[in-house]
Amino acid sequence: MKPVQIGVLGLGTVGGGTVNVLKRNAQEIARRAGREIEVTHAAARDLNKKRICDTDGIQITVDPFDIVSNPYVDIIVELIGGDTLALELVMQAIENGKHVVTANKALIAKHGNEIFAAAQAKGVVVAFEAAVAGGIPIIKAIREGLAGNQIQWLAGIINGTGNFILTEMRDKGRDFDDVLKEAQQLGYAESDPTFDVEGIDAAHKLTILASIAFGIPLQFESAYTEGITNITQEDVLFAEELGYRIKHLGVSRKTDKGIELRVHPTLIPEKRLLANVDGVMNAVLVQGDAVGPTLYYGAGAGAEPTASAVVADLVDVVRALTSDPENRVPHLAFQAGTLSDTPILSIDDVHTAYYLRMMASDKPGVLAEVTKILGEHDISIEAIIQKEPANEQNDACVIMLTHRVLEKNMNAAIKSIEALDSIHDRVTRIRMEMLNAN
Ligand code: HSE
Repeated sequence: MKPVQIGVLGLGTVGGGTVNVLKRNAQEIARRAGREIEVTHAAARDLNKKRICDTDGIQITVDPFDIVSNPYVDIIVELIGGDTLALELVMQAIENGKHVVTANKALIAKHGNEIFAAAQAKGVVVAFEAAVAGGIPIIKAIREGLAGNQIQWLAGIINGTGNFILTEMRDKGRDFDDVLKEAQQLGYAESDPTFDVEGIDAAHKLTILASIAFGIPLQFESAYTEGITNITQEDVLFAEELGYRIKHLGVSRKTDKGIELRVHPTLIPEKRLLANVDGVMNAVLVQGDAVGPTLYYGAGAGAEPTASAVVADLVDVVRALTSDPENRVPHLAFQAGTLSDTPILSIDDVHTAYYLRMMASDKPGVLAEVTKILGEHDISIEAIIQKEPANEQNDACVIMLTHRVLEKNMNAAIKSIEALDSIHDRVTRIRMEMLNAN
């Protein structure tokens, strides 16, 4: 049988890695797919750029539309990123009856509903394993491996750059900006690094995970997103002293009232495996009602780890070429007509425990005022520590851990605490998750 012909849009880090893996492992891949897979066409912005891959035998063009309309190309691999040109190209490819493999999380999180509807109508597959957690086969694990479960919640470290920054701050006391620069040099950071540090990249990935876990449409616009730019060295150290680590987590949980979809810095117990996922590594913990907790760990970015996921998708698509479109694994894990309209909860309606840090006048009665406000808002304290006067005003630094509380109650309590004469500066608040079965 003739080889399946692939057109790769974008020959950067992931595109180059994909060409390399396809060439190096060609035999093993063909044995798995049942056909040889050959990159015959590629689009790149600069034809003269030095590449990480050997482009012998590949026709390279600057116009990606040439490739999506080329009748000899069977599958389009979209690796240019962004969600404007990429959307146009993917929709055009689908219109032309081509299958698509993409690593583009923003594209799927923001436009996936429209893309999958078009793909379904045309009987083509759009595969996106590489869009979430790089080389970790998390989409396949949830969509197929856990298909017998009701997923209860999932929590993940799904941005390597942010995790690298928090790890270096904790282990080496390094400065935020300095670590971010290194992540950029290593090629992990997004072209706009605010996507990494403000949690937007993680929210794209979490949106995708929540859809396949709970069978809901993609709803990126409803995700709550909070970055790590306000995390200080002292919070990292206090958390450590209390037996916790600060991680930038994406959390999605199904509750009676709706689905939580949130990305924010989070204190987690240091003994949890997830607390020990360091550097640029990613990990996702998934709680299913039948299987219990399962943990998936690996490289969340980089040329060949991401290529590993792209190539796995290519193998799946090649196997699907001869299958009846009605009997393929659905894009979002659940049959298209059965997606549920369970609402995404506003962050105000989420319950989490809290770490609070405040600067308080070191005089009698101050703590009593603070604990009275917490009590009035139905907030129960789990632990409290007070540090020596910590600034020129001789303020004490008070750190509290609370039990789980409704977010809107916490907001109201913090507002009242900040209004006290004896409390100076803003109250620092970081959510906490125990990540146990419930
Ligand atoms: N900027 C992303 C990260 C790359 O740091 O995880 C992979 O999506």
